[in-house]
Amino acid sequence: MSKKFYITTPIYYVNARPHIGHAYTTIACDTIARRQRLLGAETFFLTGTDEHGQKIERAAQAAGKTPQQYADEISAEFRKLWKRMGISNDDFIRTTEDRHKKRVQELFRTIRDNGFIYKGTYTGQYCVSDELYVDGAKPGDPCPTCGRITETVQEENYFFKLSAFQDKLLALYANAEFIRPEARRNEVISFVRSGLRDLSISRSTFSWGIPVPDDPKHVIYVWLDALANYITAIGYGSSHAGAQEAFKKFWPADVHMIGKEIVRFHCVYWPAFLMAAGLAMPKAIVAHGWLLFEESKMSKSRGNIVRTETILDVLGADALRYFLLREVVFGQDGSFSFDALVQRYNSDLANGLGNLASRTLTMINRYFKGEVPYPSHGASKKAADDAIAEFARKTIREFGELFDQFQFSRALESAWALVAAVDKYIVENEPWALGEKQDEESRSRLATVLYTAAEALRIATALAYPVMPEATAKIWTQLGLGDIKKLALSELAWGQLRLGTKLGEVQPVFPRADKSAIERMQKMEEDQRGIPVPEITAAEVPAPSSSTQTASTAAPAAAATNNKISIDDFAKIELRVGLVKVAERVPKADKLLRLEIDIGTEVRQVLAGIAEAYAPETLVGRKVVIVANLAPRKLRGMESNGMIVAASLEGGSPVLAGFLEDVPVGARLK
Ligand code: MSP
Repeated sequence: MSKKFYITTPIYYVNARPHIGHAYTTIACDTIARRQRLLGAETFFLTGTDEHGQKIERAAQAAGKTPQQYADEISAEFRKLWKRMGISNDDFIRTTEDRHKKRVQELFRTIRDNGFIYKGTYTGQYCVSDELYVDGAKPGDPCPTCGRITETVQEENYFFKLSAFQDKLLALYANAEFIRPEARRNEVISFVRSGLRDLSISRSTFSWGIPVPDDPKHVIYVWLDALANYITAIGYGSSHAGAQEAFKKFWPADVHMIGKEIVRFHCVYWPAFLMAAGLAMPKAIVAHGWLLFEESKMSKSRGNIVRTETILDVLGADALRYFLLREVVFGQDGSFSFDALVQRYNSDLANGLGNLASRTLTMINRYFKGEVPYPSHGASKKAADDAIAEFARKTIREFGELFDQFQFSRALESAWALVAAVDKYIVENEPWALGEKQDEESRSRLATVLYTAAEALRIATALAYPVMPEATAKIWTQLGLGDIKKLALSELAWGQLRLGTKLGEVQPVFPRADKSAIERMQKMEEDQRGIPVPEITAAEVPAPSSSTQTASTAAPAAAATNNKISIDDFAKIELRVGLVKVAERVPKADKLLRLEIDIGTEVRQVLAGIAEAYAPETLVGRKVVIVANLAPRKLRGMESNGMIVAASLEGGSPVLAGFLEDVPVGARLK
C-alpha cells in the first residue's frame, strides 16, 4: 500500500483580501505537498475559507452586503489567487458549504453524546477580531493576542468540558514531534499546565454561523466550526461510503501548518475536541512566524499589507515562493521588502540557477548539437569532476533532511551551494576555451565538463521543483527530460542523466530584474493603498485656519496646485461612522483622550486631542466620524488607530462632526 500524506493550511478568514502573509502559509504547504507527491505518497492538500462568526457578519454589514455575498466574493478571490500562484490543493473547503455544516453538527452531536457539552451562562470578555474568549479580562481590557479592546459578553451558552482534558493533553505533548518548533511547544505546555477552564462553544447574540443541533437559537462557536474543516473536508460525518473511505484513508492529518498566533486553538482546543469525539490526533502541528512589513505584522488592520498580485505581475509566482522560503527562517518572523525580493531574485535565480541553466545548455547546443555529451572515464577525467558528483550526492541527502524538518531556508541554501560549486567548476574548467580546440583530448574534456554541469543542474532543478514548480518544469524540458511531475524523487541520484538526451529549446527562465522592478511594485502598492497619510490627526492639533477639517484637506496628495482633488482621490479615504464605547483622559497629557471606537468591523483605540473641549463621560455612546484607513501611529507610547473628524476653529476648541439622523455603526461616508 502506498504511503498517504495529508496536509492542511488554516482556512482563511474572508474579512480580508488575500495578501502575501496568507500566501506564505499556503506556499509552505504547497511546497511540502509537491515534494510528497514526487516522493510517491498519495497526497491530499487542503485549504479553504473560514466564513462564519461575528467578525464576518460585521464586516459584511459595514460593506452593505449580506454575509453570504461578502463571503462569496472574498472566498472567490482566494481561489483565484491560489490558482494563479500554481497552488496544487486537492480541495478547497468553505465553511458555508452544506457538506461542512452538516458534518460540524454531527461532530457537535457526538461530543455532546459523549458527555462533554453542557449548558451554562458565560459572562466575560470576548475579542471579536480573534473570535477568542479572554479569561480573566475586565471590561475595557485589550485582547492579549491582538491588543484590540475586548467586548463584554453575557449570554447563555453551551460549554465544552475543556478542563477534563488537561492531563491527556499534557501526555500528548510528551511527543516532541506533535508541536513544532520547540518554543511553541513550550508555550503550549505552560499554558495547559496553568489550568484549563471550560470553553464556551456557542453564541446566541448573532446568527451568522452553524445552528447548534436541536437548539437553533445558538450558533456553534466559530473556532469549533472552523477547526472541524480538517475532518469535514475529507468525509467525517458523512453517510456516503466514498467519503467514509476517504476519511479512513487520510485521517489523521500528517501536518497542520499554521501561523504562530493560532497555536492555542490548534494545539489545545482542536486535540481536545478530537479526544472528546473519540477521533485520532493529527501527527504534527507546525507553526511558522509572521511576515513583517515596515516592522510589524502584515495585516489589513495595520494597513501594511503587500498584495501577492503585484509580485506575480512583475516577477512571477516562483520568485515569491523562492524568496519567502529562502529568506525567512521558518518558525521565526521575517521581514518583507521589495529591495530584498529583487536582490534575491537577481542573485539566486537570474544569476544563480537561471544562469547555470542557460550557459550549460547553450554550450551543449553549440558544441554537441544539443545532445548531452558522453563524459570521459579515461585520462581526461579529473578529481574536480568527482568532487561535483560527491557534492551533489551530499546535497540530495542534506536537502531532504532539512526540508523534511521544515528548515526550508537551510535546505535551499544547501541546493544553492551546489549551484555555486558548479559555477566555480565551470569557470575553472573553461569549457568555452576547450570548445575552441579540435583535438580529441579537449573534446573529451569538454564533454565531461558539460555533462557534469548538466547533471548537477538536473539535480538542483529536481530538488527545487516543489519550491518553484513553473521555472523548474521549464528547465526540465530544456534538459530534454519531459514532465518533471513524473520524477521519482526518492530515486534521485548522480549519473541518471542519459547520454545523448536531446535538449529542448533553450530559453532564459529568470530574466534579470532591474531597479525599475522595485519602483514598479512599490508604485502598484501605493496606488492600491491610497494616498500617503497625514502625520498628525486633525483632533490632535487644531488647523491654523478656520475650516471644517477632514482628512482630505489634511492629506499631502490632496494639496494639488489648484487645491482640487479628484473623486478617486477622495474615495481612497475611508470615512466611517464609529460609536464611542470608552473615553478616558491620558495621564499627564492635558489635551489627549483615549477612545475606544466601534467601527462595525472592530473596536479601535484612537487618541484624540479633544480633552479640553469634551469631558470623556459625554462622549461614551456618541457617534463620530472616523478616518478608518489611516496608518496607526504612537502617541505617549500608545497606538492611535484612526482619526476622528472635527471642525477646527481658529483659536477655539475642536467640534466633532456628527449626524442628525440615526446612522448604523460602521456605515461609510462618501
Ligand atoms: N480563520 C483562522 C484560521 C482557522 S483554521 C481552522 C485564521 N485566518 S487568517 O486568515 O487570519 O489567517 C490564516 C493564516 O494566514 C494563518 O496561518 C496566519 O498566520 C497567516 N497569516 C496572516 N497574516 C500573516 C502574516 N503577516 N505573516 C505570516 N502569516 C500570516 O486565523
